[in-house]
Amino acid sequence: MIDPFGRAVSYLRVSVTDRCDFRCVYCMAEDMTFLPKREVLSLEELDRLCTAFIEKGVRKLRLTGGEPLVRKNIMSLIRGLSRHIDSGDLEELTITTNGSQLAKLSSELSDCGVRRINVSMDTLDADRFKAITRWGDLGKVMEGIQAAKDAGLAIKINMVALKGVNEHEIIPMMEWCHANGHDLTLIETMPLGEIDGDRTDQYLPLSLVRARMSDAFTMEDIPYKTGGPARYMAVKETGGRIGFITPMTHNFCESCNRVRVTCTGQLYMCLGQDDMADLRAPLRASEGNELLSAAIDEAIGRKPKGHDFIIDRRTKQPAVTRHMSVTGG
Ligand code: GTP
Ligand code: 5AD
Ligand code: SF4
Repeated sequence: MIDPFGRAVSYLRVSVTDRCDFRCVYCMAEDMTFLPKREVLSLEELDRLCTAFIEKGVRKLRLTGGEPLVRKNIMSLIRGLSRHIDSGDLEELTITTNGSQLAKLSSELSDCGVRRINVSMDTLDADRFKAITRWGDLGKVMEGIQAAKDAGLAIKINMVALKGVNEHEIIPMMEWCHANGHDLTLIETMPLGEIDGDRTDQYLPLSLVRARMSDAFTMEDIPYKTGGPARYMAVKETGGRIGFITPMTHNFCESCNRVRVTCTGQLYMCLGQDDMADLRAPLRASEGNELLSAAIDEAIGRKPKGHDFIIDRRTKQPAVTRHMSVTGG
């Protein structure tokens, strides 16, 4: 699958549910209306969809949400998809999770060919964790991370950098991650979906963070690549890696290799644009994949050049009205 800008699409992110057991303040409002279950693709339909993309050249598949691991019977989908790892058609099968279910599911994930997972954790302070996630419990997430490590999974911690909220924890978080053998990626908050708070106040440019960190640590650009948007640096003092995801200060769209599908089967060609293609209708229209495959090709043919996110101090409106949890980031 090659888009109009010559970029090969090899990374598919699939949101398997819009629901989540947390309510992170930068992601959701406390009172969210979720999709009725009948709108959501069945596990069998999700398998068919992912398989069709793999047949068309996807090599990296990430399940997201909402929280992917709260979807009922999610492990049966993951187990089914692991056949593509066994056959060598898929290079990476992975998830981005809030960690709440990892204590229970890590060893099964490992058993299903998952090798590396991303866990969202914005603070090491239990009270602040509660304040950011509203409903989350840091102790449970920590237990989950330990279980994932014990199961042999490599872990990347995602930390959304928020001015005046967890800014002062960036270095302690990096030290904790590196001491425990995890990568860390810092993420700039993106203006997606109405939340109760004001994002403009919390926006922290990572260019500033990186400059500050370079004063205290010996940091070196490294060519480490995961297929995601982070640019990594090695930190000499800790011996670990830190990645920067900078949609606001440094646009990485030029090398974009990914598309995402929502739990209702809508294909978004860009996280920061509204254009999408419905794949549920062609998926349900026939048992064969011809219609689905044609719909995918047509959509890839209009993948936009990139997002044009701005954090607008005047209007304070999100650049895109849908929430991050719809497309899973
Ligand atoms: P790796 O495989 O470890 O590189 O993961 P990843 O960065 O691709 O995935 P993850 O789910 O950990 O995403 C981390 C952050 O990157 C999230 O906040 C995503 O929203 C953001 N992100 C991923 N892809 C894109 C993209 O294409 N555009 C933008 N603007 N953000 C993205
Ligand atoms: N901006 C940036 N990152 C966000 N995430 C959720 N909402 C936002 C936002 N508005 C992050 C989560 C998770 C990843 C998939 O996206 O923390 O790590
Ligand atoms: Fe749930 Fe992730 Fe959104 Fe937090 S950021 S509310 S964990 S989907």
